[in-house]
Amino acid sequence: MELDSLIVVGAGYVGLVAGTCFSSAGFTVGIVEKNQEKLKTLKTGVCPFYEPGLSELMREGMASGNLTFFSNQEEAMKALNPSFVFCAVGTPENSDGSANLTYVEETIHEAIKVAQKSIYFVIKSTVPVGTGKRLQKLADSKSPGKLMIVNNPEFLREGTAVSDFLRPERVVLGGSDEAVEAVGKLYNSFLLNNRPLIKTDSTSAELGKLAANLLLASRITLVNQVARLAASTGANIRQIEKILQTDSRIGSKYLYSGLGFGGSCFPKDIESFIHICKSLGVDASVAEAIDDFNDTQKLFFIPDIEKEFPAAGQTTISLLGLAFKPETDDIRESPALALAQELSKKGYKLKVYDPKAMDNFKAWAKELKNIEFSSNLEACLKDSNALVIVTEWQEFQRLSPSRLARLYTGKHIYDGKNVLDAKDYKSAGYRYLGVGIQ
Ligand SMILES: NC(=O)c1ccc[n+]([C@@H]2O[C@H](COP(=O)([O-])OP(=O)(O)OC[C@H]3O[C@@H](n4cnc5c(N)ncnc54)[C@H](O)[C@@H]3O)[C@@H](O)[C@H]2O)c1
Repeated sequence: MELDSLIVVGAGYVGLVAGTCFSSAGFTVGIVEKNQEKLKTLKTGVCPFYEPGLSELMREGMASGNLTFFSNQEEAMKALNPSFVFCAVGTPENSDGSANLTYVEETIHEAIKVAQKSIYFVIKSTVPVGTGKRLQKLADSKSPGKLMIVNNPEFLREGTAVSDFLRPERVVLGGSDEAVEAVGKLYNSFLLNNRPLIKTDSTSAELGKLAANLLLASRITLVNQVARLAASTGANIRQIEKILQTDSRIGSKYLYSGLGFGGSCFPKDIESFIHICKSLGVDASVAEAIDDFNDTQKLFFIPDIEKEFPAAGQTTISLLGLAFKPETDDIRESPALALAQELSKKGYKLKVYDPKAMDNFKAWAKELKNIEFSSNLEACLKDSNALVIVTEWQEFQRLSPSRLARLYTGKHIYDGKNVLDAKDYKSAGYRYLGVGIQ
């Protein structure tokens, strides 16, 4: 079995990172992207989205000849005759909460049609439980023995995607022993220091991925639940977080209160989990509660803003941070969207700024009224009545009361990520409100 060439379909946050990292490990990689505008950018050696370290690695791959971009799967498969086709296309949410598998299915049909030999079809996209088995049956019915499907869920985090991929905590592969063995070899150089390769069946790999996101989201939600009570009792959630995080049974990660989780994965994967439970008659009430609670958490500051600023039309609010987290330009399901929508609906004037996500936000906010897109922090804070920190970019964490006083004449600070020192700002005369800190 030739190990040295593979193609990745979909040059998004997952596919472009995976393909580029495999090329850096010495494999010949073809990445297929059907969006022509994106493809044009990729071919010039520029990453079409913000992900630290990715452009540099991409350019190294292209210069070494290991990394090439293609506009369609047929062209890529004919050029490389790969033994492995990775499917990293999007699986967005349908209106009923289920995952839309149109792009995954397109990819598998094309692979069956074009493959010139038996190949391993590796599903990196996050898919509903049972998809791997169903697609294996479909492939076998169309062309017996041509495709061996392996589920290889991805756990990288946007913002640290390159290092997450190059040094994963574990790699999960679900499928037949032979197929898992073959795909596992691609990961040898990434799995140093006894990091495990977890070999399992495809159903467990699929459910394992959804479960990981559900558990991470549940921690954020539970600490936000505690933060709401802290807000009403005068307890300080920062102190409570320390109490929790130093308990080795609980651990320290994903235990920070704020305006809830967003991103392209947690909300969609929880919806998908709920949808699968319901279709099988399994009680999903815990997952549903997480989902519902998180939606309202994004609007945590609204009641206080309305109380403090009843004259919406005469109030300008600055939103600092639009991406769903720092070090990415991804705004999918970001708390900033829900907050901007709600404030705009209530008649507030908005000024918004993000170090990396302005273009994505502008494209999304076309319908919003009374919104000004600021090109820097200074412009965003000028003549505003209240500021809300929505994303914890370093630029906002580095503010100090004296610097803020030079940029901002308002007195209200809503710290949606609890990153500023409440005491410092209060003693400088600001009205500070965090999420569970007052
Ligand atoms: N973004 C993350 O942090 C992350 C992490 C783990 C898993 N995932 C999962 O990985 C999958 C991909 O996520 P993403 O964030 O990279 O998505 P994305 O939307 O950023 O990228 C998907 C890309 O695939 C392209 N595409 C779609 N169909 C295609 C086809 N037939 N041929 C060629 N290109 C095609 C699209 O144009 C797009 O550029 C999803 O299932 C997601 O849930 C995402």
